[in-house]
Amino acid sequence: MTPPAGLHGSDGSHGPTAFRQVHVPFAHRVVFGHRLLEPVGGAEATPAARALREALTLGEDRGSRGMVVFVDDGFAAAWPGFEAGLRDWVALQLPGVELREVSRVAGGEPCKNDMAVVDRVIQAVERHHIDRRSAVMAVGGGAVLDAVGLGAAMAHRGVRHIRVATTVLAQDDAAMGVKNGVNRFGKKNFVGSFSPPDAVLCDLAHTQTLPPRWQRAGLSEAVKIFALRDPKWFATMEATASALRESEPSAMEPVIIQSGMMHLDHIVRGGDPFERLAARPLDFGHWSAHRLESMSEWTVPHGEAVAIGIALDCRYAQLSGLMSESASDRVVGLLRALELPTSHPLLRDADAVFASLGEFREHLGGELTITLLRDIGQPVEVHAMDSAILRRAIQSLGS
Ligand SMILES: NC(=O)c1ccc[n+]([C@@H]2O[C@H](COP(=O)([O-])OP(=O)(O)OC[C@H]3O[C@@H](n4cnc5c(N)ncnc54)[C@H](O)[C@@H]3O)[C@@H](O)[C@H]2O)c1
Ligand SMILES: [Zn+2]
Repeated sequence: MTPPAGLHGSDGSHGPTAFRQVHVPFAHRVVFGHRLLEPVGGAEATPAARALREALTLGEDRGSRGMVVFVDDGFAAAWPGFEAGLRDWVALQLPGVELREVSRVAGGEPCKNDMAVVDRVIQAVERHHIDRRSAVMAVGGGAVLDAVGLGAAMAHRGVRHIRVATTVLAQDDAAMGVKNGVNRFGKKNFVGSFSPPDAVLCDLAHTQTLPPRWQRAGLSEAVKIFALRDPKWFATMEATASALRESEPSAMEPVIIQSGMMHLDHIVRGGDPFERLAARPLDFGHWSAHRLESMSEWTVPHGEAVAIGIALDCRYAQLSGLMSESASDRVVGLLRALELPTSHPLLRDADAVFASLGEFREHLGGELTITLLRDIGQPVEVHAMDSAILRRAIQSLGS
């Protein structure tokens, strides 16, 4: 049979080639507030309900929507009335949405260390006939959001996904991201996907029941983004460090919101939401942090590992002549004023830390690209690191 005209080259040796760009608009809805999911009656939809109604495109047709909910057990223990309240809230605020199951997930990093939670989500989607207009809601810290989010992205190749972020770190960073992931082969976030959530709800009151150590740990991502992008907010954190250290809501809440919105804006407006390029500015301080997390067998919390990674990268930049001592001291000083760790005994194995640069490069693909600072608000990319300087930087932090 002769192929249709135009489907082969003039010499008949090859078929068509094509280049098309695929544009898929995603809506990223984020609501910060207090008592977002508290039952209120009346026809008036609350901002959180409006976001969920849009996310589930209720009103588009008459079919009902189902929802299954996975709740971080650490959060559930601190908020024993949450699940019953959520049922009432959905009944009042989301007519047409049927809550088909609410179940618990053991919170914290271990939930990312195998595929068990991911598989539970997939099974629940099948069991409760959650279709692609129905939703999986994840309620919890960054780890639960990551693991449940991956299950939601895989079942049916992606059902709608709602995040309710309940920790400082989840609200000021993790929930704003468009990715999810679990750890495999001892490597952080080795398996995951880029899947923008359909709505993100952040009730600031929820963070107040976090143990103080975890509240402080979550602040490291705010230090990171302000050090990269915003000297004014960095100075605000310095000025309010003692109130932040004590987790005073009047100091915490503006920082959480500003950091969350800056992460969101970077992801949405930065031109590379699915991280196709090698540069990864939001991963400042993360190359060694991820290594430290795995070397510690996941006992060092992500937020604390990031604080240590930021301190290490600042001392490295200082010792390699990129950053002034005073700027480096300000960053390390702020982390310490927040009672965040800036060193760890495991870093003494400098070779193992250095070796993780290879892993990081492989994860990025292509050329190694590490973001360091010249000054607060002035990021700079480097493409190689020196093991001798790194060793001195580790020693300077007293590891
Ligand atoms: N996907 C992304 O873009 C992204 C970005 C940054 C971080 N992360 C991931 O986020 C994870 C860290 O998240 P995290 O810092 O929220 O820690 P976490 O999820 O490990 O939670 C910490 C602890 O707090 C408990 N908890 C949760 N909410 C609570 C509440 N309101 N009151 C009391 N206890 C509560 C949990 O049960 C857990 O024990 C890491 O795995 C990290 O890789 C993902
Ligand atoms: Zn992080």
